[in-house]
Amino acid sequence: MLKFLRFKKNTTVLIGAVVFLCLSISSFAADIEAGKAKASVCVACHGPGGNSVNSDFPSLSGQPAQAISTQLFRYREGNRKNPVMSVYAAELTNSDMNNLAAYFSSIKRTTLHETKPANLTAGPELANKYNCTQCHGPNLLGLQHIPRVAGQQHNYLIDQLRGFKAQTRADMDGNMSSAAANLNDADIVVLADYIAGMADRPETTNK
Ligand code: HEC
Ligand code: HEC
Repeated sequence: MLKFLRFKKNTTVLIGAVVFLCLSISSFAADIEAGKAKASVCVACHGPGGNSVNSDFPSLSGQPAQAISTQLFRYREGNRKNPVMSVYAAELTNSDMNNLAAYFSSIKRTTLHETKPANLTAGPELANKYNCTQCHGPNLLGLQHIPRVAGQQHNYLIDQLRGFKAQTRADMDGNMSSAAANLNDADIVVLADYIAGMADRPETTNK
């Protein structure tokens, strides 16, 4: 039985790896201009160039392309559900997703959020203590399928972290739910305030 379960888990990991590989292979051919043309419907909510101006809507700008295409794929396939995004993703082909991802990834992220001075010290301490930087990178800029969170919208960050902790937010490999399980609500509030303001600080700007 144990052997079977292990086999099943490996198979799931393998299928996941193949999906990521296919998405990233086809993203070599991703077309930023085609993505831009397709993005006009998205920017109504995600803001110009994917720099959201609504705290509840995530920014897409400067996000690793693979993180964007992975999430779109998951909405379309029903692994992550949202009444709005599931509908929009249902219309997209794999190449639409890669083109949109290439376009939004190419835009510099900006933010209007100003971190409270006290959280400029408390925030990085928590991010190190809870290993956020180990997966999301030293400046939380993301890598491959791991999303950039630096400069993400404030309310969206709070909602996602609370969601991971409550295990109501879809989680591809369980890593984020484990990471968030150790946070109390005060930690979440401090981390979100710190992370949301990161985009405009020089050390946290990659493009
Ligand atoms: C009517 C508003 C609206 C429109 C239009 C819209 N989105 Fe979204 N999008 C949202 C909301 C709200 C969320 C957060 C949903 C959730 O909590 O799962 C989201 C989430 C996402 C995410 C996941 C972000 C992350 O950080 O995990 C991606 C990627 C995305 N949208 C891409 C797109 C693309 C590409 C389009 C255009 C084809 C689009 N969206 C159109 C509102 C919208
Ligand atoms: C072991 C690796 C790992 C650790 C540690 C980790 N994360 Fe994550 N994080 C991920 C992965 C992978 C995802 C994507 C999950 C998914 O969508 O299924 C993610 C997603 C997120 C999201 C949602 C982003 C979005 O755009 O929707 C936020 C916010 C986040 N992490 C913040 C944090 C914070 C804050 C910490 C530290 C307390 C942390 N993470 C620790 C791997 C990690």
